[in-house]
Amino acid sequence: MTDAFRLDGKVALVTGGNSGIGEAIALAYAAAGARVVVGGRRPERNAATVEKLGDGHLAVTLDVADERSVEQAVATIVKAYGRLDILVNNAGVGQRASVMELELAAWRRVLDTNLTGAFLCTKHAARQMSAQGAGKIINIASIYGLAAPSKGLLVAYTVSKHAVVALTKVNAIELAAHGIQVNAIAPGWFFTEMTGELKGTDFEQSVCERTPTGRWGEAGDIVGACQFLASPAADFVNGVVLPVDGGYSASDGLRR
Ligand SMILES: NC(=O)c1ccc[n+]([C@@H]2O[C@H](COP(=O)([O-])OP(=O)(O)OC[C@H]3O[C@@H](n4cnc5c(N)ncnc54)[C@H](OP(=O)(O)O)[C@@H]3O)[C@@H](O)[C@H]2O)c1
Repeated sequence: MTDAFRLDGKVALVTGGNSGIGEAIALAYAAAGARVVVGGRRPERNAATVEKLGDGHLAVTLDVADERSVEQAVATIVKAYGRLDILVNNAGVGQRASVMELELAAWRRVLDTNLTGAFLCTKHAARQMSAQGAGKIINIASIYGLAAPSKGLLVAYTVSKHAVVALTKVNAIELAAHGIQVNAIAPGWFFTEMTGELKGTDFEQSVCERTPTGRWGEAGDIVGACQFLASPAADFVNGVVLPVDGGYSASDGLRR
């Protein structure tokens, strides 16, 4: 790894950093030299991840859907380290239901977390980054930010992830003048707590068949792209959506 990909001296907040994809990113950033702040609602899970990261890292109790919580988390980070260089908007929840059955409360919970959470964290992190004159924001979208699932159903999730792609583009344009790059990653299917119940089902096999690489993603598959977008190597990369999906979004998916 050349120096341009290192994160030495950088301070990174990973929302939802206590599980799955977020924890993999937190571990990779720490290994690349960053001081990592793990932000999630469950303090014991945050602490467990920080324990894995080793010394010099921080846990903050954070609900991304609550603006006061976001403001407090950013203030805590700036108090602890004097800066914030990297924000990964990774916190997310899913909900599978027919559009005809989906409860308004469930719709709001998904939108509040996946979309409003990314907006609020961007708002408060970008103020600090702007004062520093530089920063990187990485939004974890989804292949369902690019197209909808074959039988629908992930209604609020799909809408939220399409909107995260839009948030990425509009903020990349405004914040460029402040030295901040905003990019998104669109993961394919990864086994995490969010998707664990699908293990061993027909759907697991169906994803393998639909994905040109022929398998599900593993935590390690996401970290190279996340490190690149957080590093000086990506200083001229702004407003892109990078699929990390084994080729899923490149294919029309038809069985021939
Ligand atoms: N797994 C996949 O196949 C896949 C595919 C595409 C995209 N993604 C995206 O990747 C991201 C991570 O998903 P994952 O699969 O790693 O899921 P996961 O293991 O269930 O982790 C979700 C994380 O989000 C946090 N979170 C949820 N609501 C929050 C809130 N209001 N405030 C702060 N943190 C919150 C959770 O921590 P607390 O409960 O402690 O708050 C947890 O750390 C999500 O945005 C997801 O949509 C996943």
